[in-house]
Amino acid sequence: MKRSALIDLARRLPKAELHLHIEGSLEPEMLFALAKRNAVDIPFKSVEDVRAAYRFSNLQDFLDIYYQGMNVLRTEEDFFDLTIAYLNRARADNVRHAEIFFDPQGHTARGIPFDVTISGVLTALKLSVPQFGVTSKLIMCFLRHLSEAEALATLKEAEPWLGDIAGVGLDSTEVGHPPEKFASVFAAAKERGLKLCAHAGEEGPPDYVRNSLDLLKIDRLDHGNRSLEDDALVARLRDTEMTLTVCPLSNLKLCVVKDMRAHPLKRMLDLGLRATVNSDDPAYFGGYMNANFASVIEALDLDADDIRALARNSFLGSFLPEGQKRAHLAAIEKTPVQSFAP
Ligand code: ADE
Ligand code: ZN
Repeated sequence: MKRSALIDLARRLPKAELHLHIEGSLEPEMLFALAKRNAVDIPFKSVEDVRAAYRFSNLQDFLDIYYQGMNVLRTEEDFFDLTIAYLNRARADNVRHAEIFFDPQGHTARGIPFDVTISGVLTALKLSVPQFGVTSKLIMCFLRHLSEAEALATLKEAEPWLGDIAGVGLDSTEVGHPPEKFASVFAAAKERGLKLCAHAGEEGPPDYVRNSLDLLKIDRLDHGNRSLEDDALVARLRDTEMTLTVCPLSNLKLCVVKDMRAHPLKRMLDLGLRATVNSDDPAYFGGYMNANFASVIEALDLDADDIRALARNSFLGSFLPEGQKRAHLAAIEKTPVQSFAP
């Protein structure tokens, strides 16, 4: 099949997005609009200026700009508008289910109350099915450069909202902040019935992945790229059907891979790992779900079976109930390999 037909297949397939930081969907245009609305100074003169600043040589380079960008998010309405804009883009890419991360500590640290952030996001997510035909879940991340005591305080603040929070995640600076630092807060989250995710193996070594499994008891692994350096770990991830939420354009922009042709996604599939495609922080990394698919289809010579497996994996790895997973899997099987549009 031609590349263009494969990219078209990826576009038409129903998909779930399992690794998306809502703050990372803040497009430069919205950054300017919110800076104006909230009278916040930003160090950029134009949208082009902003895009030019989005050059990163590692994760920390990006995080510095990402936390700076958050500064324009002040009110419930801002978080609502941000989330609605993402849902629009998700729908356009035929994303039928989205499990969305948010970083409450990135906002409480600036004096924006937890309730302001979560109310704005949740009010938008209540519209995700009726207005966009997209189901959604919300995952609260702890910032790993902060202390575990601060993560525990955040979990406490979230207590009244736990009915609307599906799980917790662990993000921000990986190297130097190993998973074991957060073992108690993850145990406390598990006790409260929350699902557990953690970024690991993005820049950190395979041991960070192993300790996320053993000490944090994660249900899902975010990134996981560096797991491939350890054959025993790969076998374990395969045998336990652990889902990896892989983010190709993010990996390229943050120099986790030098070139998209060196991206490990195809190898992951060939090794039997449950890999998925996701956009991470699409406003910063150059594309949403379908752009991520197109980039790996082009660079890695994926075939129609690979693409269908990636779509299937996204629902299998989701926190949806089994019945909903089955319905999405059936829709994937019914999607014709060729488009019959004229
Ligand atoms: N926060 C937002 N995006 C992230 C990423 N790719 N890795 C770690 N923390 C993040
Ligand atoms: Zn991420």
